[in-house]
Amino acid sequence: MSETITAMASPNIALVKYWGKRGDGSLNLPNNSSVSFTLSENILNTKTSVAVAPDLKEDAIYINGELQPKDQKNEKTTFISKIIEEMRKNAGFSDNLLVVSNNSFPTGSGLASSASGASALVFALNEFLGLKLDSKELSIIARRISGSACRSMAGGFVYWKKGELDDGSDSYAEQIAPQSHWDVVDMIGIVNESRKKVSSSQGHSATTKTSVLYKSRPEYAEKNADLVVDAVRNRNFAALAEVVMRDSNNMHATMLDTWPPIRYLNDMSWDIIEAVHDLNGKNGESIAAYTFDAGPNAHVITTAQHANEVREMLSEVMGEGSRILEAPVGSGPKLLSEKDSLITGEFLKNI
Ligand code: PMV
Repeated sequence: MSETITAMASPNIALVKYWGKRGDGSLNLPNNSSVSFTLSENILNTKTSVAVAPDLKEDAIYINGELQPKDQKNEKTTFISKIIEEMRKNAGFSDNLLVVSNNSFPTGSGLASSASGASALVFALNEFLGLKLDSKELSIIARRISGSACRSMAGGFVYWKKGELDDGSDSYAEQIAPQSHWDVVDMIGIVNESRKKVSSSQGHSATTKTSVLYKSRPEYAEKNADLVVDAVRNRNFAALAEVVMRDSNNMHATMLDTWPPIRYLNDMSWDIIEAVHDLNGKNGESIAAYTFDAGPNAHVITTAQHANEVREMLSEVMGEGSRILEAPVGSGPKLLSEKDSLITGEFLKNI
């Protein structure tokens, strides 16, 4: 076992969304399959370093420089601790661990930092503890930290199979096409960098319990997932675009239909939705498709060929000082070298 292991992973953007959990929700088992592509790690990433911490009385987890308190009511942090505990036990390892994780982008902004965070952590721990788990097993572990994270365990285009079993052993993500398959990009308009008001875990549960519209979503989304897999395989952008936009709209409709209602989109998000329809209308075919997660930031999917046009459209709508990221398809989690470790002498001096 080497002294420090560092891994890097990136978020993914869902082309067909996961919203709503089956069972008691504790295993993050979805009501429908979903499809995504992993974003380029050159644009958005989480780096996570793991080392033994013999001097510490318990594991220490730092996220973006902040030590995560043990008694925190934050479900995700509790889950991270549980997963570390479980993976350590499986490896027959007993030392306390120091885990240091940094995001290259704002946490809680709807940019899925939990997906890249969970996959970088699980990937790093697997290597550090010498567990040699395969990508299916790693995807299942990442899913338990944050559902959508299981899709970040692979690069390229990814399908997360809903699965049927109560123990979740058949609910994991797999690559359907590699990074090189299609040069689509996610043009991200950062509309708001602040933390979202309703966390996705609260939202999943509230919508499933109270929305009347949601009753029709699992079947609809399942069909959308099949259509998107075909569109990706055939590199059919026009077919992809319509399903992507409709699926996002359908999910946000169920959010609005939640009681009390949940609104993640703001006026700027809506201006972007309208501008994408205008742009597609002017072109006579769809060259761009918007999709929104649990936040107002716009993900406008297009191909490399139309990236400049889409960027111009976005910056015009968003106005001066707009922040736009252009993320092509990424390669999936990977190990970094010792020199990229976040556990530096400087870091250890300051904790
Ligand atoms: O993985 P969670 O619990 O943060 O849920 C993510 C849900 C959406 O981002 C809104 C959709 C998706 O499939 O990524």
